Amino acid sequence: MPRTVYIETVGCQMNVLDSELVVAALHKAGYQISDQPADADLLLFNTCSVREHAEDKVYSALGRVAPLKRAKPGTVVGVLGCMAQKDQELIRKRAPHVDLVVGTGQLARVPELVEKARETGQPQYALSLGRADAGRHAVEASFVSFDPARDSAARPTPFQAFVRVQFGCDKFCTYCVVPSTRGPEQSRHPDHILAEATQLAGQGCKEITLIGQTVNSYEFDHGDGRRTRLADVLAKLDAVTGLERVRFVTNFPKDMTDDLLQAVRDLKTVVKYLHVPAQSGCDEVLKRMKRLYTVGEYRDMLARCRELVPGVSVSSDFIVGFCGETEASFQKTMELVREARFKNSFIFKYSERPGTKAAERYADDVPEDVKKRRNNDLLAVQNANSLADHRAQIGQMVEVLVEGPSKRAQGRAAAGGEVIQLTGRSMADHIVVFDGTPRLVGNTVRVRVDDASAFTLYGRVVTGEGTAAGFAYTPDSARAAAEGEDAPAYPAPLDFAPPAEKRIGLPLA
Ligand code: SAH
Ligand code: SF4
Ligand code: F3S
Repeated sequence: MPRTVYIETVGCQMNVLDSELVVAALHKAGYQISDQPADADLLLFNTCSVREHAEDKVYSALGRVAPLKRAKPGTVVGVLGCMAQKDQELIRKRAPHVDLVVGTGQLARVPELVEKARETGQPQYALSLGRADAGRHAVEASFVSFDPARDSAARPTPFQAFVRVQFGCDKFCTYCVVPSTRGPEQSRHPDHILAEATQLAGQGCKEITLIGQTVNSYEFDHGDGRRTRLADVLAKLDAVTGLERVRFVTNFPKDMTDDLLQAVRDLKTVVKYLHVPAQSGCDEVLKRMKRLYTVGEYRDMLARCRELVPGVSVSSDFIVGFCGETEASFQKTMELVREARFKNSFIFKYSERPGTKAAERYADDVPEDVKKRRNNDLLAVQNANSLADHRAQIGQMVEVLVEGPSKRAQGRAAAGGEVIQLTGRSMADHIVVFDGTPRLVGNTVRVRVDDASAFTLYGRVVTGEGTAAGFAYTPDSARAAAEGEDAPAYPAPLDFAPPAEKRIGLPLA
């Protein structure tokens, strides 16, 4: 009997990619994938520390699997990722049945350490150095990026993939754990990025999303005076046969240079979408967050994006209830969101993280009910803008890369020719829902927008010069009922879902 692995993933795209790569490595080592923890010989949790809630979820999942381990003591339980790097001792203390603790910079060792845990019955740890443990070079070297050859069977959709271009972060926003959990910022060699993208395109991948914590700060120093920046990487990828779309997330406002915006405008494959988190609309708050820009500078950057890339859509992140955020400072954030016309915003309540500068310096002094109210108020302003932005597109034609059945149609087994509701994204990253056969999945189609809600554009597939194909379509704003709607995940198709849990049920035999 081959061994089986079950994996749960929380956190951002980095974690989604890491889980895919770990699962592919285990598959190569003979493991099959199971979506039933009770059947699995190896239970893995790829974790996130960005908010307390993400950590709580992992501890409760670990609690749930403790009886499985007691019933079948040979089962190996592993904690991977950001929590593993940050809280190795605490994890073993709170969940003594954990056999494996592997940080973000040591993932290549998972298959070997699983075997060792099984053979010895002893807990296995693989962690990178803390940021203050040694000099920069040694700390960098201890975060080893894990980017093996890709296995298209290990992805939820074979035509979409994440590609790491950068890992770690050097910005040290005062509220954030990422610079410690992912280590120093390091940019990947452009030749490796190109080789991976070419391999993916050869496997039939049409869309890649380049990922990095501050992806637009990407810069590879060749050591001979040459430097490669993100715009150069995009130009190289634009020439890769088979690649139709290249996206990149997440951008740091201060590093949004004109050459990058020009590349977004001019390169046919580059998606006209920028995720550039503002975090707050108040200068004092931004200063305490150490975001390194003022609201005025953020506004100027936004104007530049729109001037240089006509039609670009921009989304943002906000933290409400950060230390010392008064009602007046919150109103400034409301004003920014009202004016900025973001496509969408991801809004988070501040969660104090032990070990960060904010936890050290400032009191978490905004009460939970105030955080909640501010969250709702900001969301209401954003949703009104998203609806207006979407409604302005009614009557327009958009190019959609079809991703799969819409949320409403999911779970219904569709016969080959049956018309179901499908979902995909436009070149400006809008979610588009329309009727079509499952054969369209993975293809790009033209859709005329007939209706819109705050989260979704509704339309019908159009062929030739604007002739509607024979798909039945009933405009139905009632579909916008939040429940069935394909609301944006954080921040894109497969991806980053700090609020939501992602379980990768991969189609591996
Ligand atoms: N590197 C990206 C995002 C990293 S984390 C960037 O800098 O934009 C994703 C989002 O989580 C952040 O943009 C921020 O809005 C939110 N976040 C990070 N730390 C948080 C905390 N302690 N509490 C609440 N939200 C947080
Ligand atoms: Fe965290 Fe700031 Fe780095 Fe983003 S830029 S990962 S918010 S420290
Ligand atoms: Fe780590 Fe991503 Fe969470 S870098 S802390 S998994 S948001």
